Amino acid sequence: MTDVKKPPVHTDPLELLHHMREKSNWGGGDARIEKQHAEGKLTARERLELLLDRDSFREMDAFMVHRETKFGMDDPDKQYVGDSVITGWGTINGRLVYVYSQDFTVMGGSLSQVHAEKICKIMDLAMKTGAPVIGLNDSGGARIQEGVDSLGGYADIFLRNTLASGVIPQISLIMGPCAGGAVYSPALTDFIIMVKNTSYMFVTGPDVVKAVTKEEVTKEELGGAVTHAGISGIAHLTADNEEDAMFLTNELLSYLPQNNMEDPLREVTKDDPLRQDEALNTIVPDSPNKPYDIKDVIRPIMDDRRFFEISEYYARNIVVGFARLGGNSVGIIANQPMVLAGVLDIEASEKAARFIRLCDCFNIPIITFVDVPGFMPGVAQEHGGIIRSGAKLLYAYCEATVPKMTVITRKAYGGAYDVMSSKHIRGDLNLAWPTAEIAVMGPDGAVNIIFRRELAQALKNGGEQAMLEEKARLVEEYRENFANPYIAAARGYIDDIIEPKETRPRLINALEMLANKRDSNPMKKHGNIPL
Ligand code: HXC
Repeated sequence: MTDVKKPPVHTDPLELLHHMREKSNWGGGDARIEKQHAEGKLTARERLELLLDRDSFREMDAFMVHRETKFGMDDPDKQYVGDSVITGWGTINGRLVYVYSQDFTVMGGSLSQVHAEKICKIMDLAMKTGAPVIGLNDSGGARIQEGVDSLGGYADIFLRNTLASGVIPQISLIMGPCAGGAVYSPALTDFIIMVKNTSYMFVTGPDVVKAVTKEEVTKEELGGAVTHAGISGIAHLTADNEEDAMFLTNELLSYLPQNNMEDPLREVTKDDPLRQDEALNTIVPDSPNKPYDIKDVIRPIMDDRRFFEISEYYARNIVVGFARLGGNSVGIIANQPMVLAGVLDIEASEKAARFIRLCDCFNIPIITFVDVPGFMPGVAQEHGGIIRSGAKLLYAYCEATVPKMTVITRKAYGGAYDVMSSKHIRGDLNLAWPTAEIAVMGPDGAVNIIFRRELAQALKNGGEQAMLEEKARLVEEYRENFANPYIAAARGYIDDIIEPKETRPRLINALEMLANKRDSNPMKKHGNIPL
């Protein structure tokens, strides 16, 4: 390599261009690149090569240099050509995307004013041309030497993240430390993908935590991929390594349209739209209290039995993710009887609400599988605001205007029946399996309340055994009367009762029937979702 630090004095214009380009490509230099590799991380440019279609990347602003002069920043050695981020556009599977890739080898990928300007420029183009923005984040946060200019730079990005929300998909890959301001731009985007063991997100790191709260915690425990995927729910997907993160991004994009004015791409599928799965007819156990895995219901119904789960390790009592049906991209929300009997609690409500809004923004039809005993009771839930969180889920379903299809597999009790995409809140096609039980509450709870006096009398007259026998009789009577789908079907609250094995063809048919659905909400500046 030529000495990139010393531009040739007498040179022709082309030679100078090549020299400057080389200097820009060099980032923070060999030693820091080696350090990056030693830590199991790729460089910003290597990441772009991995993410984008071969030779599709076109760079912008490769020659921008920071403007700070204080703290020795006017030293030519500190004036990295291109500064600490690489920006531009390229394609993924032939579809246009805008990208930025923070270069940790240049001052820790810290955000200077120029760094922010480069990101804002591609975001503005992405908005004008209607294409996704993918951010590869690896940054020590605000560039300390630039003070308020750096803070302002962050705010310029936050504004654009917010204005772009619901217009173009925004995906954040976390490939290294993300501290301070570096976490809030990803937090405003649609998806966060974290790489295990090499990426961290925190507002303040372990040292500050120790100083302020006296808690001792490692970086990994505080803000690693596993923490954010399972405990905070901040990370939607976790990747085993950087290459895996690119595969996940690729798959995620395949379910999304380029912008809110387009529909997601329809893929050609070899999977028979009329395929029926006999096993579904017996998947719901005889006992209403016995769990089963809702993913064993979802997979056989979807094209190629493929289900791309989002937020898999957070609020596992509800399952959300993407799949295809007859080649169409669909968003799935499903109660999970395997975890807490599929109850709706604070976390599950918020996880599902956010996913529903994402689908609605980007014209992705929503399919809801219902097996829910109700909202989670308890002091912690009430004091934690289950009323507000449950209302978020309700609001998200009510507001959504994309095609909405619902399949009640078993329990749809109480308020949770209303919430889970019921007919009353604009469900377009609401189906029930014969095993569905639609009631205000489960038989046990209902009998305890409405037959309290009778049970007390039985106890008084004949002792505990007599009371239990009377209760069993009343529970059975209640189950026969209410715990079935026919009462709801008689009122038109569900549109049909189907054999479980028919679910795939019925949903594909419904998607086709709803393909031209148009529905809207009243004109308003924006609603006031109970945040
Ligand atoms: C300027 C920075 C920097 C920063 C790192 N560097 N962070 N330069 N501003 N914020 C430089 C280092 O000086 C070093 O330069 C190089 O980047 C690599 O950093 P190391 O510390 O050697 O790397 P490592 O050990 O891997 O640690 C990475 C790190 C640590 C965990 C990110 O650097 C760190 O804690 N940085 C500070 C994080 C922080 O507090 N940021 C400000 C947050 S406040 P050389 O020349 O040696 O290579 C904020 C406010 C915005 O962001 C709020 C908006 C809402």
